[in-house]
Amino acid sequence: MSFRKRVTVNVFCFFVLAAWAVVADDPYENEYGDEYGVEWLYFVTDNATRIVMNFSSLPADTRGLLFGEAYFTLYTRQNRDNPEPLIIPEGDANINSTYFNASNDIKVITHGWISSESTTWLQNIRDEYLVKYDYNVITVDWSEIARNPSYVWPALSTRYVGKRVAKLLDSLEKSYQGQRKLHLIGHSLGAQVMGYAGMFSGRRIDRITGLDPARPLFEFPEMPANFRLEKSDAEFVDIIHSCAGVYGYRNSHGHADFYPNSGRPRQPGCEGPQYMIEGCSHGRSCEFYNESISSDVPFIAYPCDSWKSFQNGNCKTDSTKMGDPVCLNSRGDYYLHTHNTYKYAMGDEFE
Ligand SMILES: *[C@@H]1O[C@H](CO)[C@@H](O)[C@H](O)[C@H]1NC(C)=O
Ligand SMILES: *[C@@H]1O[C@H](CO)[C@@H](O)[C@H](O)[C@H]1NC(C)=O
Ligand SMILES: *[C@@H]1O[C@H](CO)[C@@H](O)[C@H](O)[C@H]1NC(C)=O
Ligand SMILES: *[C@@H]1O[C@H](CO)[C@@H](O)[C@H](O)[C@H]1NC(C)=O
Ligand SMILES: *[C@@H]1O[C@H](CO)[C@@H](O)[C@H](O)[C@H]1NC(C)=O
Repeated sequence: MSFRKRVTVNVFCFFVLAAWAVVADDPYENEYGDEYGVEWLYFVTDNATRIVMNFSSLPADTRGLLFGEAYFTLYTRQNRDNPEPLIIPEGDANINSTYFNASNDIKVITHGWISSESTTWLQNIRDEYLVKYDYNVITVDWSEIARNPSYVWPALSTRYVGKRVAKLLDSLEKSYQGQRKLHLIGHSLGAQVMGYAGMFSGRRIDRITGLDPARPLFEFPEMPANFRLEKSDAEFVDIIHSCAGVYGYRNSHGHADFYPNSGRPRQPGCEGPQYMIEGCSHGRSCEFYNESISSDVPFIAYPCDSWKSFQNGNCKTDSTKMGDPVCLNSRGDYYLHTHNTYKYAMGDEFE
């Protein structure tokens, strides 16, 4: 562990330097100096507290890496206000759930760093699903682990949490016969959790949606594909980029990668100092997704080689929808504009 830690940090510093050069032409200034993104980053938590992610000050040992668990809660139309904890059984025993409906599809949702299942966007998406569909919605709360202010530990623990999610899904598969689709949705480090869940799951996962999947220690330094969310983790992986190159994946790692408003900060409507712009942009992927579930106006996106080419009007055909109603045959990079506040979706911007 200590070996990997040292390597990780050194390589990380090297690569992120290159990252800023690319991000620098975005329409906001990096006010924090050359070490920003190299030695440290600001991060804005759910309660709008600004904290420092310091890559040069790691804890001296690995204690604290795992000092918590992941908890699972089932919500269905029958128990919206009466959440049912799902416990992974010992050994070969079956799961005994009161509300799980074996004939309905499963949606699993999880949060990122210094967050929990009670975060607003997660509850919104859960509620939106149950308004629209009779699903088994399972939320994963790994906040005991995710709350560690030293980013490295929660980041490395996504593998463990992903294994637990896979174990729960395997138990459900074994306990309940039936045809149903498995769709996993995660934001930031939560997207990395779902990548691991897909990799470890006994049954092939139908779909994983990564909402601005965490970049530090996954894409920079570049980890092997089995150490981060990749298209190999499910039958279909769709990724929505909204703070690309800072908190989120900069490059395409799914079957379909969506780049609303270029995918980078600043996302339209995100104002204030640099750290607020980045925090707000990172959260936009969740808001877009939430809106996409039941909105009458879809997020229509177009395949294109680059944002620049899209902006130059070169790509106006073969559109697909971003978010929940995505077409599972979509492949490649897609671009679109959005409004700067709810409702974000523009429908077909070329009509
Ligand atoms: C906000 O979150 C931070 C980090 O988790 C925590 O230390 C702080 O106490 C919280 N503040 C409030 C007002 O909840
Ligand atoms: C990060 O940690 C290093 C080593 O402890 C320290 O020298 C540096 O000032 C810290 N940087 C920030 C931005 O907190
Ligand atoms: C399932 O749980 C219910 C309520 O806790 C209990 O009455 C029942 O015996 C359990 N069934 C099995 C098969 O374990
Ligand atoms: C399970 O869901 C189906 C619809 O998919 C519904 O017809 C059925 O009544 C549900 N079963 C229970 C026990 O709620
Ligand atoms: C989530 O979407 C629903 C339906 O479109 C909307 O009513 C709600 O305000 C949205 N929540 C957020 C935080 O955007």
